[in-house]
Amino acid sequence: MNTYQLANAFTAATDIMVLGLATDKQVATTLLPMPLMTELHAVIERHALTLNVGQCYVFCRTTAPYKIILVGVEALEKMTLQTWQKAVKAVAKLLPDSNRQSLAFIVPEMAQVWLSATVIALESEHYQQGQLKKAGLNPSAWPSAITLVSPWSADAAAMLAQGQAIANGIHLTKTLGDLPANHCTPRILAEEALLLAKNSQGLLEVDILDEQQIKALGMGCLLGVSQGSLESPRFIVFKYAGGVPTTDPIVLVGKGVTFDSGGISIKGGSRMDEMKYDMCGAAAIFGVMKALVELQPAIHVCGLIAATENMPSGAALKPGDVITSMSGLTVEVLNTDAEGRLVLADALTYAARFKPKAVIDLATLTGAIIVALGSGASGLMSNNEALAQHLLRAGTMAGDRLWQLPLWDEYQELIDTPFADMANLGNDEAKSITAGCFLARFATEYAWAHLDIAGTAWVAAGKKRAATGRPVATLVEYLLGNVV
Ligand code: BES
Ligand code: MN
Ligand code: ZN
Repeated sequence: MNTYQLANAFTAATDIMVLGLATDKQVATTLLPMPLMTELHAVIERHALTLNVGQCYVFCRTTAPYKIILVGVEALEKMTLQTWQKAVKAVAKLLPDSNRQSLAFIVPEMAQVWLSATVIALESEHYQQGQLKKAGLNPSAWPSAITLVSPWSADAAAMLAQGQAIANGIHLTKTLGDLPANHCTPRILAEEALLLAKNSQGLLEVDILDEQQIKALGMGCLLGVSQGSLESPRFIVFKYAGGVPTTDPIVLVGKGVTFDSGGISIKGGSRMDEMKYDMCGAAAIFGVMKALVELQPAIHVCGLIAATENMPSGAALKPGDVITSMSGLTVEVLNTDAEGRLVLADALTYAARFKPKAVIDLATLTGAIIVALGSGASGLMSNNEALAQHLLRAGTMAGDRLWQLPLWDEYQELIDTPFADMANLGNDEAKSITAGCFLARFATEYAWAHLDIAGTAWVAAGKKRAATGRPVATLVEYLLGNVV
């Protein structure tokens, strides 16, 4: 997909033109030819046009550009990445109907630093749901070419490539996330991983560990969660070496619960279907790996996915059971629905063998993080302040924000129990933090950060429920070291 180009000036030969109209009424450009500017000003005056951020006004002409889309943007000096992306996403919603025409998008000079985020926002509507419908996906009439027009600086081409690669990664993450659990079992996830490696021109290596190998490693927590299911677990290991296999890697760890019924501590029936999204941490690792394969940066990144179902059955874990993790620490499973931390625990132990520079886990871990942060930010917890700050900055730059919660020692006692080294549950307080505290006990040998993406990985809006591809953009931004 090479839809995007950069240009420093507008050429009227385009079919469609997109232009920001700032809330202070100034058309956000000096890049247009004079006659077109005059015409636009006349239209704006005649209709006394004022547009809120993201509001679009479309009009057609008999000469090129045949269609002009005006979109409300924030006044230039006040514009933020969030309001800019809001405007761009509103434009993106119109693009599937653009009849495969060419499109020129005039980007205000100050939005140049957000080039990658602009492409990601435009591509947000290029993804379609419904691949399991009999008729397949509706063919979208996406523009044949999109030219981003601005007085671009020298690094713009690299930023454009980055944006495109991240958008492709997000696309894969959304596709996997939206798959129902019967089309996305641990076995199928492993097959997808092999496919990604196969199409990587040797850049990506994948090892799949099956149930026997997981047993041999002593991953008693992952096995405990999977023992109630007819589907066997998989442990997926991605290795992207980018030509530097001898450096210490950054290791990503993903929760890959392909369906979370809660187990014996079964969830209520309402909206239980959304627990097909409980593998979105794993899906984000797929997206990151896809972007890395495309960009081929000289960095060393591994991805670990603990893939399993969490189901009730006669063989399932029972509340009160004590299981032994790969680290040797024992866990009293007070609630079988707190399964994410269990599968991550063994993955975090496994991660130590890479002598990682840093480990970042991604998990739809707690409902409590949705209460705390909604969809505005993923929760961040870390045992290393420098790592936390890097990730926070990457999130801000990517428009895919994180917000930090504390992991103070005082919280640790909430998961103490007389029956094992720890319980998998605290009380009703600080539920996202106690989950983080649990993970911290396994992430002792390296700098580590935990991203709780339960509120950000998908939107839970009835018929509009959909995977978002978060936090792929933040992670790629961080991994490429674009954060200062
Ligand atoms: N996958 C869920 C977290 C979740 C719940 C994500 C709702 C998105 C929406 C996780 O496995 C879970 O069930 N967590 C429990 C933990 C509790 C039992 C300590 C929760 O958050 O209620
Ligand atoms: Mn659960
Ligand atoms: Zn879960």
